[in-house]
Amino acid sequence: MTKTHTSRSDIDRYLRVDHAGERAAQQIYKGQLAIMKNHAMGPEIQHMMEQEVEHLEAFETLLNERQVRPSLLDPLWGAAGFALGVATAAMGPKAAMACTIAVEEVIGEHYQKQAENLGEDEASLKKIVEKFRDDELEHRDIAIDHDGENAKHYDMLRAVIQRGCRTAIKVAEKI
Ligand SMILES: [Fe+2]
Ligand SMILES: [Fe+2]
Repeated sequence: MTKTHTSRSDIDRYLRVDHAGERAAQQIYKGQLAIMKNHAMGPEIQHMMEQEVEHLEAFETLLNERQVRPSLLDPLWGAAGFALGVATAAMGPKAAMACTIAVEEVIGEHYQKQAENLGEDEASLKKIVEKFRDDELEHRDIAIDHDGENAKHYDMLRAVIQRGCRTAIKVAEKI
């Protein structure tokens, strides 16, 4: 059953964490591009990065409209994302794709949960969240198609990155 009313505190949390996540996401791809610009995957990564910038801008607008403050750790999320992008790309193209699979899987789930928790009063926000969920899952699929699952130490890499993402989500909802 769909809720009719979404609480203000849920909206605050959702917008703050989503904005922080998109800050990190676009920086991950910028970090990967810093290393892989001339790689065959370059244009695909560029495409994903551009979508993350659109996502970020959408949440920037929403934060302003709803008067929600961004995460106080905003610069940290950006720096962490960039570092993750650079580090995985430096390990090789498959590791970069493994990073994308790991991150986008978590973000896809995260948006799915939010969409389910948004009430009927937030139909337009729900639509945005669902669209972004689909974009993130498309990014995951691109990375699967490009052999991310065959990266060296894939299971470990995925587990470590996903643990980091889940922790960051919990922190960014609050701080
Ligand atoms: Fe995104
Ligand atoms: Fe994405």
